[in-house]
Amino acid sequence: MTAFDQSDLPDTPDTEPNDQATPIIAVLGAGKIGEALMSGLLHGGHTADELLFTERHPERAAELTETYGIRGVEIEEAAQRADVLVVAVKPQDIEPLLETLAPLGASGQLVVTLCAGLPTSLFENRLGDVPVVRVMPNTPMVVGEAMSAISAGAYATPEHMATVEKMLSCVGQVVELPETQLNAVTALSGSGPAYFFYLVEAMIDAGILLGLPRAIAEKLIIQSAVGSAKMLLDSDAHPVILREAVTSPAGTTINAIRELEKHGVRAALLAAIEAARDRAVELGKAHE
Ligand SMILES: NC(=O)c1ccc[n+]([C@@H]2O[C@H](COP(=O)([O-])OP(=O)(O)OC[C@H]3O[C@@H](n4cnc5c(N)ncnc54)[C@H](OP(=O)(O)O)[C@@H]3O)[C@@H](O)[C@H]2O)c1
Repeated sequence: MTAFDQSDLPDTPDTEPNDQATPIIAVLGAGKIGEALMSGLLHGGHTADELLFTERHPERAAELTETYGIRGVEIEEAAQRADVLVVAVKPQDIEPLLETLAPLGASGQLVVTLCAGLPTSLFENRLGDVPVVRVMPNTPMVVGEAMSAISAGAYATPEHMATVEKMLSCVGQVVELPETQLNAVTALSGSGPAYFFYLVEAMIDAGILLGLPRAIAEKLIIQSAVGSAKMLLDSDAHPVILREAVTSPAGTTINAIRELEKHGVRAALLAAIEAARDRAVELGKAHE
């Protein structure tokens, strides 16, 4: 994953204890989304000494430290030093992590979970009455354009929510929602970038089918995606109005739209996103 330019980072990580002016944030599980968050936080003004991470593979940890100047630590040190513990492991890997974390007494810390489908109650039940904030971000975090939804657990105060909102505002937009809506968010914007990439990939294939060189097809489609996204952002118009502006009577676009309707693309999207939501529910149920 391409990250922000890290050229302004310090060569050697600073390991001085926190002066409490800004929270120390530890990312537990520095995979795709964990790395994107660390990269975004650095870009958003956090310093490498305010961040820690845990990682299972030493080579991966060394690579992350070299790239970002952030120290990889054992979970014991993360639990001891961090004010905020960001859980960024796969939902399937949560049980061993919670088993390790529970005896370390994380009750004074804010636990932020990025895990799809896992309810805040899971963390509260296993770790004690800890403040937990559940977050569903997405990978555009790596370019500072994440869409994150946040929900408070039973012990999370407005101050905890403000801390998480501030942290995620460094890497994109944030909305606060009830936890009952987080599985829908997971299906919609958590997985959303994959749907757009899939669409772009299919449209590039269409360019190849029509005989265009691959590099040209890629350029045409990617810039069209960027331009369309900017129009959606900048105008107050509904997407239907923007689409109608490209759809002239007896023109080329309406021929394409007829094929999209004939092949049930809208229905396929509804069903696909519903299936993603169902999987998020299933992931949560596995830990009940
Ligand atoms: N990727 C997305 O688009 C996205 C979007 C929103 C939310 N999320 C959520 O973010 C979480 C992480 O997803 P991801 O795509 O970043 O997965 P990932 O790339 O597999 O990252 C998870 C990382 O955690 C490591 N790990 C697992 N158990 C650990 C432990 N006990 N201690 C330290 N490290 C541990 C894994 O190591 P191994 O390589 O050894 O497994 C891996 O490096 C998931 O819960 C997912 O639902 C992801």
